[in-house]
Amino acid sequence: MNDRFARDGFLVIPNFKCADEIAALRERAAAIVDAFDPAEPAAVFTTRDEAKTKSDAYFLTSGDKVRCFFEEEAFDASGALRQPKELSINKIGHAMHDLDPVFERFSRDSRLDELVRELGVAEPRVYQSMYIFKQPRIGGEARWHQDATYFDTDPVTVTTLWFALERADRTNGCLWVQRGGHRTPLRERFVTDAAGSRLDRIDATPWPSEDSAEPVEVEAGTLVVLHGLLPHYSAPNRSAASRHAYTLHVVDARARYSPANWLQRGAALPARGFV
Ligand code: FE2
Repeated sequence: MNDRFARDGFLVIPNFKCADEIAALRERAAAIVDAFDPAEPAAVFTTRDEAKTKSDAYFLTSGDKVRCFFEEEAFDASGALRQPKELSINKIGHAMHDLDPVFERFSRDSRLDELVRELGVAEPRVYQSMYIFKQPRIGGEARWHQDATYFDTDPVTVTTLWFALERADRTNGCLWVQRGGHRTPLRERFVTDAAGSRLDRIDATPWPSEDSAEPVEVEAGTLVVLHGLLPHYSAPNRSAASRHAYTLHVVDARARYSPANWLQRGAALPARGFV
C-alpha cells in the first residue's frame, strides 16, 4: 500500500465505510442544512465588492466552526435560489470532526490513524473536514490544484482522505488525478495575512493536460487518499444526481505548519489526531 502511494500519489480503498456509517453522516448533514438560515450569507450576493469582503470573512473565520456555503450557481440574477436550499449548498465546513458528535464518530476512526501512520504521517492532526454536496445540475467544478496549496507545512505532509458517500463517476463530477503527479512541484500557495488572502503562483509548471488526467470512478463507501502534492480536479456536475463526499485534511505535527495558512487553530480548539 505504501509502495503504491509512493508510486502513484493516491490510493483507492473500496468498501472502507459501511452503508450505516454513510447513512448516519448524510442524515446529519441534511439536518445541519435544514437548520441553516440562508438569509445572512445570501446577503453576501447583494453588491459585488462588499459581497466579496463579506463572503471572504465568512470563509476565513470558518476554520473552527460548522458553516454552510452555497454553490456559486445557486442564485439567479435576481438573487433568488434556483433550487431548494437543500439542493443549493456546495459544502459544510470546516470543523465538524471536532464539533459535531456524528461527524466526530465518522472521522475519529482508529483505522485512519493506522493508515496515515503507514503513509508516514507519524503525528496526525486533523485540521479540516468538509461535506461536499456536488449538487445536481449546479455542482461547481474544483479546478486543478494541489491540497498543499492550502495546507502548507515544511516538509509537505498534508494528506487528504476523501470518502465517497455516493457513487462518483464521470457523469456527476468524480475526482480526476494525475497519476504520479505528486512528484511535481507545488505550484501555488494560498496565503493569508493582515492584507487578506491571495493565491500566489510559486512555480510555473503547467497543470496536467487532459490526456494525462485519470478519472477516479468509485462506489459509495470508497476511501480515496491523496498526497498533498498530487494535482487533482473535479468537473462540474450537470447530471440529475448529486455526488456527496466527505473529506478530511491531515498534517503531521512534526512538520512546521505555516502561520500564513488560512486555517489556524487556537488554544480553544486545537487540531487533534484520530484517537
Ligand atoms: Fe483538493
